[in-house]
Amino acid sequence: MQVETKKIVVLGTGGTIAGKAAAAGDNIGYVAGQVRVQDLLAGVPGLAQAAQGPLDFEQVAQIDSKNMEFGVWAALAQRCHEHLQDDSVRAVVITHGTDTLEETAWFLHSVLDARKPVLLTCAMRPATAIAPDGPQNLLDAMAVAHAPGARGVLVVCAGAVHGARQVQKVHPYRVDAFSSGEGGPLGWVEEGRVRLAQDWPQAQAGWAQGALEKVASGASWPRVEIVMNYAGACGATVDALVRDGVQGLVVAATGNGTLHHALQAALERAQQAGVAVRVTTRCPLGQVLSLPWAHAALPLSPGLIPVKARVSLLLELLGASAPTL
Ligand code: SIN
Repeated sequence: MQVETKKIVVLGTGGTIAGKAAAAGDNIGYVAGQVRVQDLLAGVPGLAQAAQGPLDFEQVAQIDSKNMEFGVWAALAQRCHEHLQDDSVRAVVITHGTDTLEETAWFLHSVLDARKPVLLTCAMRPATAIAPDGPQNLLDAMAVAHAPGARGVLVVCAGAVHGARQVQKVHPYRVDAFSSGEGGPLGWVEEGRVRLAQDWPQAQAGWAQGALEKVASGASWPRVEIVMNYAGACGATVDALVRDGVQGLVVAATGNGTLHHALQAALERAQQAGVAVRVTTRCPLGQVLSLPWAHAALPLSPGLIPVKARVSLLLELLGASAPTL
C-alpha cells in the first residue's frame, strides 16, 4: 500500500464546532469558540486514518464568527497562503463558525491561489451536544481533501460540498444550514467518498491577491457598509454614513435591483461625493439582470449576495480590479 506523506493542516478559528454548553441537551445556549483545535481533532474517532498522513493544527483564532474581524481574516489568509505554497501540504482545513462562513469563504477565494483544497468546515451543534455534527463534518473534510482533482476554497457541511461563490447560510438551526441556491452543491460526501454533481471549481488565482499583500504591509481596511431597500425606505441612513466617512456602500435592492426613489437619490449623492456604490438584490435566488436603461447611475455587483458583494468592494477599495464573474 502506498503511504501518503503529505500533510493536512487544520486551522482553528472557533465557532460552534468548538462550542461548549452547560448541558448536553442544550443546542443553542452555548458559548462558541471554547475547545482548542487539537482537542477537537483528538475527539474524532477515525480522523487519523481519514487524514491518511500527518495532521497538523494551528489555532489562528478562537472566536464566535459573528465577531469576525479583518485582522483574523488577514492572519487566516496569510497562514493559508503559506501552507498552499508548501509542497508537503495536501490541503488546508479551517474550522469556522457558520454565521459568517460564507463571507470568509468568498474572501479566501478572492485572495488565495488555491490550487489545492482549502476546506472550511463547521457545526450547528456544539462540541458538548448529545449528537454534535462537527466530528462528521471534519471526517468529510478529510475525504474531500483526498478526492481526486479537489481544489479551491470549498465548504463542507452536513454531507454536502459547496463552492465559495454560491454557498450561503440559509437556516439558523438546522444541521444542514447551507445551500448553494439554484445550482445546488458541487457534490456530497458519503461514507468517506465524494460523489460529484458538478466539476470542481476552475484552478484560478484569486482575483484580489494584491489586496492581501497590501493589508500585510499595513494598509488599513476601508469602511464598507450595507443598506437595504424596503417599503418606506429613505436616504437618511446613507446620508449619515457619508457624513461619517464611509468609503463604500452595497445596497440590497428589491427585486431586479429596484430602489425607492429617495434611497436611489441618496446613493447617487453618495457616489457623487466619491463613495463607491454597488447594487445587489435582497432576493435569495437569482441575480440582477442589467437593463440598458435602469442601472446607468449605480453599478451592479454581478451575481453576488450583499455580504459577498461587500467583501468584493472591500478588496476593490484595497486596490484589486473587480473580477468578471
Ligand atoms: C459562529 O458562527 O461562530 C457561531 C454559530 C455557529 O458556528 O453555528
